[in-house]
Amino acid sequence: MIHELSNPVAKTLLNHLREIQSDALRFRHIIQELTRLLVYEALKTETVEDQTITTWQGEQTFGFIKEEDLIFVTILRAGLPMIESVTALFPKASSGFLAMKRDEKTHQSVLYYDRIPECKDKTVIIVDPMVATAGSLCDAISVIQAKLPKKIISLNIIGSPEGMVILEQKHPNIEVFIAQIDEKLNENKYIIPGLGDAGDRSYNTEK
Ligand code: PRP
Ligand code: URA
Repeated sequence: MIHELSNPVAKTLLNHLREIQSDALRFRHIIQELTRLLVYEALKTETVEDQTITTWQGEQTFGFIKEEDLIFVTILRAGLPMIESVTALFPKASSGFLAMKRDEKTHQSVLYYDRIPECKDKTVIIVDPMVATAGSLCDAISVIQAKLPKKIISLNIIGSPEGMVILEQKHPNIEVFIAQIDEKLNENKYIIPGLGDAGDRSYNTEK
């Protein structure tokens, strides 16, 4: 199921990402803010567990999300600002890393490193800003599914309609929370209007 944010704050931030004047620092900052909005939305029905804590009025019991049951997995390198954002919210959650690069000619993603913790019965939340052909995300989902998590959620910033169709066909059970679905892919499989290359925009590099 794909959920696109409709919040005007999210859309405004997202459109600032498209501005070429948004430098790497602002770019990563906006990605982090949008990631927070996405995770609030994705976990809005998450159950909370009672925990007794010491407050200024002594011991009291309140509901908390069980952070230890969350695993955030990012796809290098454009996903790095996203994982910084969510791990700051949930410091007890675990993190996993997948290093993938789209081949410039074939546009297929190539996995060259993976470091994912034990996922059995955990909620795994993938964070990657761009879903263009959806090849990277579909490969990431397959790697994680093999580790038998309870649930997989994906948080993304911009996707293409083509990528969303493929994602729904290949992985209909994944919950996807995305800030914006744009118009189309161009001949180089970049999202239009999009924002360019998210990794390059975040880290001041150019192909
Ligand atoms: C970007 C992005 C996704 C991928 C999406 O990574 O972070 O992982 O492209 O494209 P797809 O849906 O067609 O697979 P990229 O390969 O550009 O690497 P980078 O993060 O190092 O720039
Ligand atoms: N990766 C990006 O960073 N941007 C796109 O538009 C497509 C893939």
